[in-house]
Amino acid sequence: MSQTTQNHEQVRLAILGCGDCGGVHAEQINGTPVAQATPKQHVSLNPIAMAKRVAKTILGRRDPMPVVAESIEPMAEAKVVAAVDIDPERAHAFADRFGIKDVYQNYQAVLDRDDIDAVIICTPPSLHATMAIDAANAGKHVFCEKPLSTNSDDGKRMVQAAEDAGVVLQVGYVLRFSDERGGMRDVIQQGKIGRPVFYRELWNLTAGPPPRWVLDDEIGRGTIWENSHILDFLRYTFGEPTAVHAIGGQYKPEQTTAIDTFGVLMTFAQGDQALFTDSYALRGFGWKNHGHRQNLFQIDVAGPQGSVQYPDINLNQTMVVTRLGNGEPIETTHDWVSDWGANGYREEMAHFVDCVRHGTPSRAPGSEGLRTLELCELIRELAIASSATPASTNSLEQKPEQKPEQKIEPQTEPRSEPHNQAA
Ligand SMILES: NC(=O)c1ccc[n+]([C@@H]2O[C@H](COP(=O)([O-])OP(=O)(O)OC[C@H]3O[C@@H](n4cnc5c(N)ncnc54)[C@H](O)[C@@H]3O)[C@@H](O)[C@H]2O)c1
Repeated sequence: MSQTTQNHEQVRLAILGCGDCGGVHAEQINGTPVAQATPKQHVSLNPIAMAKRVAKTILGRRDPMPVVAESIEPMAEAKVVAAVDIDPERAHAFADRFGIKDVYQNYQAVLDRDDIDAVIICTPPSLHATMAIDAANAGKHVFCEKPLSTNSDDGKRMVQAAEDAGVVLQVGYVLRFSDERGGMRDVIQQGKIGRPVFYRELWNLTAGPPPRWVLDDEIGRGTIWENSHILDFLRYTFGEPTAVHAIGGQYKPEQTTAIDTFGVLMTFAQGDQALFTDSYALRGFGWKNHGHRQNLFQIDVAGPQGSVQYPDINLNQTMVVTRLGNGEPIETTHDWVSDWGANGYREEMAHFVDCVRHGTPSRAPGSEGLRTLELCELIRELAIASSATPASTNSLEQKPEQKPEQKIEPQTEPRSEPHNQAA
């Protein structure tokens, strides 16, 4: 635990980057802005502010009912006291909205303050490493949004810097804290549908404009990095992949520089296999409009003794677990509140604050973010080698001399946290 943390009852935080994700975290810690909340509840304007949401779906209805959010109470144990953004107007508006006292354009200003314990990094990925290393060197604990960085060399330096400084480095893989994903992981790991399983997930099919920097290969590195949430969740559920195959390319008609569409097949140590596909360029068949996205994810997990399916057959936000016994199949249904997991953002932040206060290891440590980053890099190499890129729009570098499959050496280092092992 850093010196500064020990001096405060509340963990005092600064948010670096006052964009969409910064707003999500500020809301979890400082609470829903007063102007936004009604006495009983409000509908959050932030599309990814999912904490404490109560969603009701009616079986048989084609369209899920709108998600209704309760206002979020401020955390007793933490407070965001400073907001940093290179865009001063944005930073001031953000600070006003979340009741944050101090505003800066340069993050060094918060690193110089003794009364700030930790930073929450919510800038585009290419900035994460420098900010996290500088913060750790200044003795600040670090919550760094995913992906940990754009490359694993940076990731290693980040992990090392946090270790050297004795500060917490947590990566924002929020699915590790989601009730829905956790429930699905339990079903799989507890063998309720048998093992091994075949896991399939279709993520976004988004023909609209990408977020500003996601498809810039230097800054965001494309969909592999952007939705590395799922790659991390698969590692969290099944352990390290033992073999990886990938395809992918650039399908977006506009001039962008990163892979926008990919598919990956992975085999895991217990024989489980997973298929994950994702696109920020191609329009899918869609079942829900979600901001700029055309549709949301679909998952099915098939095991020898049953299956998990999301959404349900009527496209409701419901997970259906079917267990095959000797008699009739037994079906149970579970509401799936949001794409990220209803309570995930609140839980991950409460966990981070707890780790900072008590000096305990994080469930989403930087070392795990690093491993997922290494997987992203491998998938990218394989996708480039797959030659799936339409020649006219391919601005990626020459494909390496490599077959589109790669075996992964089993990890020999001790794992950083026991939950991550496949059951
Ligand atoms: N966990 C999740 O569910 C989730 C969701 C969205 C985004 N993210 C991640 O959060 C990060 C930010 O994404 P976003 O959607 O909020 O992006 P955004 O573009 O909305 O916000 C980024 C902010 O950083 C600011 N910024 C840029 N350079 C800066 C600098 N040098 N110093 C200070 N501020 C600077 C920008 O002005 C902007 O306000 C990314 O890593 C993204 O992958 C995670």
